[in-house]
Amino acid sequence: TETGCLSIIVLGASGDLAKKKTFPALFNLYRQGFLQLNEVHIFGYARTKISDDELRDRIRGYDFVHPTHKYLPQGKENTENVSNFLQLIKYVSGAYDAPEGFQALDNAISEHEISKNSTKGSSRRLFYLALPPSVYPQVCKMIKNHSTNKSDLGGWTRIVVEKPFGKDLASAEELSSQIGELFEEPQIYRIDHYLGKELVQNLLVLRFANRFFLPLWNRDNIDNIQIVFREDFGTEGRGGYFDEYGIIRDIIQNHLLQVLCLVAMEKPVSLKPEHIRDEKVKVLQSVAPILDEEVVLGQYDGYKDDPTVPDISNTPTFATMILRIHNERWEGVPFILKAGKALNSRKAEIRVQFKDVPGDIFKCQKQGRNEFVIRLQPSEAMYMKLTVKKPGLEMSTVQSELDLSYTQRYQGVVIPEAYERLILDTIKGDQQHFVRRDELKAAWEIFTPVLHRIDKGEFKSLPYKPGSRGPAEADKLLERAGYVQTHGYIWIPPTL
Ligand code: BG6
Repeated sequence: TETGCLSIIVLGASGDLAKKKTFPALFNLYRQGFLQLNEVHIFGYARTKISDDELRDRIRGYDFVHPTHKYLPQGKENTENVSNFLQLIKYVSGAYDAPEGFQALDNAISEHEISKNSTKGSSRRLFYLALPPSVYPQVCKMIKNHSTNKSDLGGWTRIVVEKPFGKDLASAEELSSQIGELFEEPQIYRIDHYLGKELVQNLLVLRFANRFFLPLWNRDNIDNIQIVFREDFGTEGRGGYFDEYGIIRDIIQNHLLQVLCLVAMEKPVSLKPEHIRDEKVKVLQSVAPILDEEVVLGQYDGYKDDPTVPDISNTPTFATMILRIHNERWEGVPFILKAGKALNSRKAEIRVQFKDVPGDIFKCQKQGRNEFVIRLQPSEAMYMKLTVKKPGLEMSTVQSELDLSYTQRYQGVVIPEAYERLILDTIKGDQQHFVRRDELKAAWEIFTPVLHRIDKGEFKSLPYKPGSRGPAEADKLLERAGYVQTHGYIWIPPTL
């Protein structure tokens, strides 16, 4: 492992993302001993003129204890931890296009490096851009010109960026080349926080370390695959941002597509990040153009009541769309991507539905199909739906499941937050769970034609009631794609 001084610079330190995700993740890393006191310093940078203590107070005001961190020490111990953590943070104010600001930042970092490097180690500088993408190019330029690591003793400068990376293929490519002129690809970490989720990270293991799945994972056995994201709340409070983007850019083009890659890709040559990302790119490049009749868009009633949303908005808050992967393994298998806001439940899952049993002698009893479900959240689990004999004297069948529910199987284990894991990866220099430039391009190539038509108003969003399943047309599309719903069966997450 590397040693030497580590500086984590959070740009946009007074903003929402920093407050809700970045600082809490940093705190949790600190608490677990990943940020060594004698090596690390955290710098906040933003335009607001406030003092170190004022920034610390703002951060302190945010609830550090994520609801899933049930086992965090509560009370005094934690308060002390928070105070110690906050002492690591310094604040520098400046504009995002001002050389003076970034020189001041550089001075502050260097000062800390000199004081910490009594043994003269290397200098590691991690710049986290918790900022709107419109300022990425200018901020990257400032960092490059005024704040990068210049130590002769080695180390690195890395930058972490968040979506939205552009709005379509052309704007994304422009952004990529602007940043690409300033930093090398191994220095750029494009976050898709779905890649930091426990069950998403499990996909590779599940698929390639288990003999069970190897022979079944293909068009001969699988009828259809659904990747679903549902939220039971609307766009309250961020309608302005959302209306510019819509559900496809917000969720499907990034989060669900990344999951699709891991479900569909071939076995990588090794676990090296580049080998894995090579296979993901191949999947994306094999996706056929999306057909109009395989897309249903929706917008929930009341979405336009938000004063920041224009009255004529056609922006979808719901979409079901079918992707077809044109290769030997998947020809003919629909990948149904579905995402929606203001629906009747909150969950994200992958549902792999197998074909009917050929020559089925139990057919008259009408059991459902085999399904393998990977539940990403909440209540992380994977379960296999299968048909068994109904216990009792009679010879009849029933749907049941083999269930691996995490709360039950891994009692007392805390599942880390996606951001914690991903920030740790950026410090370690592991790009496996980050989106490579060519991957991003291929992802935009898939969705840009349909997005342009929605933007022009040629593709209409159908209304649906908040708290519903979304437009009925979406369920019809699912049926047409071959999905068979099992009636009378529900999976209930175990309670401890
Ligand atoms: C973000 C989207 O990327 O992901 C939000 O911009 C969405 O609209 C969020 O709510 C969902 O993340 P998670 O981790 O709660 O599923």
